[in-house]
Amino acid sequence: MRRTRARAFARDLVRESNLSVKNLILPLFVVDGKGRDTDVESMPGVRRQTLESLVKTVGKAAELGIPAVALFPLIDSKLKTGDGRAALDAKGLVPRTVARLRKEFPELGIITDVALDPYTDHGQDGVIDRDGYVLNDRTVETLAHQAIVHADAGADIVAPSDMMDGRVRAIRETLEERGYVNTMILAYAAKYASAFYGPFRDAVGSAKSLGKADKRTYQMDPANADEAMHEIGLDIAEGADIVMVKPGLAYLDIIMRAKQKFGVPVFAYNVSGEYAMIKAAARAGWIDERACVLESLVAFRRAGASAVLTYHALDAASWLRDA
Ligand code: PBG
Repeated sequence: MRRTRARAFARDLVRESNLSVKNLILPLFVVDGKGRDTDVESMPGVRRQTLESLVKTVGKAAELGIPAVALFPLIDSKLKTGDGRAALDAKGLVPRTVARLRKEFPELGIITDVALDPYTDHGQDGVIDRDGYVLNDRTVETLAHQAIVHADAGADIVAPSDMMDGRVRAIRETLEERGYVNTMILAYAAKYASAFYGPFRDAVGSAKSLGKADKRTYQMDPANADEAMHEIGLDIAEGADIVMVKPGLAYLDIIMRAKQKFGVPVFAYNVSGEYAMIKAAARAGWIDERACVLESLVAFRRAGASAVLTYHALDAASWLRDA
């Protein structure tokens, strides 16, 4: 076995998977106002950015060759309500951001998050009843409307991350009715109720709203894999163009099974907690950040992911360029 490992040229020739900047998607946090950028403390190197500085970051990403960005808003707490209706405001933060990026970067892929948690005062991804249970069908109606607001603004891919049943079909039908025949749906098909989302919830301010509540009545049990195949099969049947597995590193088996079983494009979300762990260990001098990031990203590719949403995207892109 060691003959093909003995020289770099041979290792290059027998390598089974590759990682390119074209496999990377940069998630970004956007906040309203001017000059109000703040650091996300639990995600060193990641900032909540206002539109002007966001445009600069996206410019850097585009220059490095990153094909797409995914937007996540931090909504002013005054705008949060029980039903999350600010998500439907055509002049809201997300549609304004999409429209601006569309204009500045006509070739860039723009992905938006279809979910209510940034907009609800209780931090859940949907409308709740008196007991705090997330109501499926009422939420789905709102999500379909939210997807149209994003498509109207110029989003290329709408990505429902809510885990309601039937939302992909509702969104696809609504998009078709409005003539958005080429707007893609990236379905967070297998999204687990994970503790690795902690830093993200700090970033978008949903941790505070959520309090002690959790999302286990709609996000998946980390112990289940067959159920993920069931979920993914349904989302594909309902019209998903691409399916997402989330989180990433602890769920590589799900990515691999999904790819083998369905043969559709599978994306992976290398989530906030995974980012925070690498950053923290690297800062302490305990691991080599660059090597660990590139190793994790190629692992997603080996498992079968077409693309990876990762907060490391800008760093990884420049490391790949310099390699
Ligand atoms: C919620 C949403 C979450 C993430 C993306 N969209 C968190 C949650 O379900 O509470 C997490 C992403 C990350 O941790 O990086 N719609």
